Amino acid sequence: MKGIEKHSKEAGAAGPFIRVKVLRSGGGNGGAGYFAEYDVPAAAPLSVMALLAKVHDMDGSFACRTSMCFKGHCGSCLVRVNGQDVRGCVTLVQPGETVTVEPHSGFRVIRDLVVDFSAPAGAGDSGAGGGGETK
Ligand code: FES
Repeated sequence: MKGIEKHSKEAGAAGPFIRVKVLRSGGGNGGAGYFAEYDVPAAAPLSVMALLAKVHDMDGSFACRTSMCFKGHCGSCLVRVNGQDVRGCVTLVQPGETVTVEPHSGFRVIRDLVVDFSAPAGAGDSGAGGGGETK
């Protein structure tokens, strides 16, 4: 795994922020990846999915799935946060915290945080993507 790629706050930005470390990779469960770090301005708690949308706004090359229900029901937002598989839409992060976000451990990685919900982890690297929409 390579080092950490940092995307700091824009010059002149002030106030509280949440540091988001996301695992970037080209996909495949055996592929090497690296962590990219983004400082997202945040004066109030944000869900992991809201944070990932802001990271995508900062860096359009970052791939994540957009959520569907935002109520913890559909499971389209499954990700791994600080080593725990969670539903990103109902997982809140406080200003001042640092959070590490990786793909959910149960599925094959397509790219960055996007997984193939039709392919369990370790099922091989071929096949098309699962449901939902990606950014
Ligand atoms: S967006 Fe549906 S469970 Fe999170």
